[in-house]
Amino acid sequence: MREFIYFSNKARTSGNFDTRKLMDAGRMDIVCHVLIHSFFLSHKIRENTKLHLVFNGPPNPPQHFEIFPNGRRTSGSITLSKKDVANLIKKMLYKSRGGKRIEVEKGYEIEKKSLFKVIGELKKQGKEIYVLDVKGKDIRDVEFSSDAVFVLADQDGFPKKELKKLKSFANPVSVGRETYFASQVVAIVNNELDRQGI
Ligand SMILES: C[S@@+](CC[C@H](N)C(=O)[O-])C[C@H]1O[C@@H](n2cnc3c(N)ncnc32)[C@H](O)[C@@H]1O
Repeated sequence: MREFIYFSNKARTSGNFDTRKLMDAGRMDIVCHVLIHSFFLSHKIRENTKLHLVFNGPPNPPQHFEIFPNGRRTSGSITLSKKDVANLIKKMLYKSRGGKRIEVEKGYEIEKKSLFKVIGELKKQGKEIYVLDVKGKDIRDVEFSSDAVFVLADQDGFPKKELKKLKSFANPVSVGRETYFASQVVAIVNNELDRQGI
């Protein structure tokens, strides 16, 4: 299973945002693009790919979404439209209930959990954690296992303290010397793993 963790320090943590003003909801527009590039291929949804979103913005942080459509298009939740993706995020935030993990529907879960708790649990499961960083090792020189987890941040990057902590146990990998949009990075990593046959 390939996994992505997208961390945003500003994304809103309640469902009461306006889907016509996604930029004002802590750049929820970027979240939508990340989700779309995590799962969508032309005419199909990726299997064996999971996306974690960790939002740290106001008013109720941290919120952890675990999204695993696994090729399913039937639920109606996942569509290519940014507005529909934003509505899905809204719906999940409205259903969130403190520390209890809520299954909003099959493959769509939400709970109150921090970035490092999420990563710690994945590490315990034996996953290999990589942090996406311009200065990391070239992704083309790394052989990934099928259990790789890629952590990336929003438009502001990781706060310094978080990045330092992340680098103490995650391998930094780079997709090139340019700084790309988070969603572009997800598309590049997906392509790289596809090419490696993972
Ligand atoms: C728009 S970038 C953040 C830009 C932010 N100003 C910074 O300097 O970190 C969003 C995220 O994409 C990832 N990223 C962007 N370009 C990358 C690259 N060339 N290699 C690896 N990761 C990259 C990083 O995780 C980054 O936090």
